[in-house]
Amino acid sequence: MSRYAHITGWGTALPEHILTNHDLEQMVDTTDEWIVSRTGIRERRIAAPDQTTASLAADAATQALKHAGVKPSEIDLIIVSTSTPEHIFPATASIVQDMLGASRAGAFDLSAACTGFIFALNMAAQAIRSGSIETAVVIGSETISRIVNWQDRNTCILFGDGAGAFVLQASEKPGGVLEAVMHSDGSGADVLMLPAGGSKIPTSADTVAHGLHYLYMEGRPVFRFATRVMAEGTREVVKKAGLTLDDIDLIIPHQANYRILEAAARGLKLPMDKFVVTLDRYGNISTASIPIAAAEAAAEGRLKPGDKVVFVGFGGGLTWGALLAEWTGPLPDREDFHPERYRLWARLRSSGLRIRRRLLAAATREKELGG
Ligand code: ACO
Repeated sequence: MSRYAHITGWGTALPEHILTNHDLEQMVDTTDEWIVSRTGIRERRIAAPDQTTASLAADAATQALKHAGVKPSEIDLIIVSTSTPEHIFPATASIVQDMLGASRAGAFDLSAACTGFIFALNMAAQAIRSGSIETAVVIGSETISRIVNWQDRNTCILFGDGAGAFVLQASEKPGGVLEAVMHSDGSGADVLMLPAGGSKIPTSADTVAHGLHYLYMEGRPVFRFATRVMAEGTREVVKKAGLTLDDIDLIIPHQANYRILEAAARGLKLPMDKFVVTLDRYGNISTASIPIAAAEAAAEGRLKPGDKVVFVGFGGGLTWGALLAEWTGPLPDREDFHPERYRLWARLRSSGLRIRRRLLAAATREKELGG
């Protein structure tokens, strides 16, 4: 019996604080006119001090679970795609697993920059289709504002914060994730990176003095690469699925620059109204851009059950990829419930586990001293 991985829930978490182009005019030597004409971006969201990549991810996942009617205890796998993890380790996904109270889920992070959500979605779908798991939550979450140099006009105008999540569930009914293509070209690793803070260049006073803890980007090569691979990736995945572009109802692209989207549309000979655009309001939220755009399209009724949709993205690595899905929507037999209520239980559970761990450690130490 064939198994399929259906997208049955989706959710977003967008910080309340809006930073407009006019606000940026007060911070760096730029203008609203330059930013809008070169990128299409008008404003972006910035996380509050108490919001983190994990808290945004957990909020988006909670909304997605509510849509799908899935309890946290039913989740088998959580993948968080991010370039702004809480720590180098442990994985942000582990922290999200604890916040949700997803007591039996395995959880890990996936690092493929802005393409990460597509890679993560494909990995989770393959785990479902192989029969290894039943239910997965895939999250793209970023707090890029924390790694951007707010004095660098070349980069700070582009990015924003937020999270988007999908719930994937196994079903014998055909549909859901149909095909995907994933690509990398590490020869371009140096054009888009966070230079310091990893094992190659550990953080030091020197790295901070040289600003190596900030996102580094060479805009022009990234732009050229992006305009090429967005159309290429879309064509490749459509062909792999045995379909044509005429079969595709909607394209949900990574939201980096409106001119990149126009170039993709030209390359595919498709009208811009086939593309979902959110970058004017949110800027580039790296790997969270695609699930946020999808959730908005679903909420607006632009993305309907049965629609064939292509998610296509590119980013640091360099990486690029595309995934073709038939949009499902919540499975009909799932009851409406309130996963946000499980968050309180999850906090209590987490505190209980922490206390138990400390008590056991103290008891072991006493035993060792006694012995
Ligand atoms: N305001 C005013 N002027 C600016 C600004 C600004 N914010 N930023 C740059 N400029 C200036 C430059 O200094 C340059 O001046 P110069 O000619 O005197 O040197 C001039 O504007 C033109 O700069 P370009 O870099 O050629 O501008 P371009 O049209 O290429 O646009 C941009 C720059 C928007 C960054 C574009 O290259 C781009 O979108 N690149 C792709 C970026 C991208 O997609 N990144 C995300 C990847 S996804 C991920 O993994 C995070």
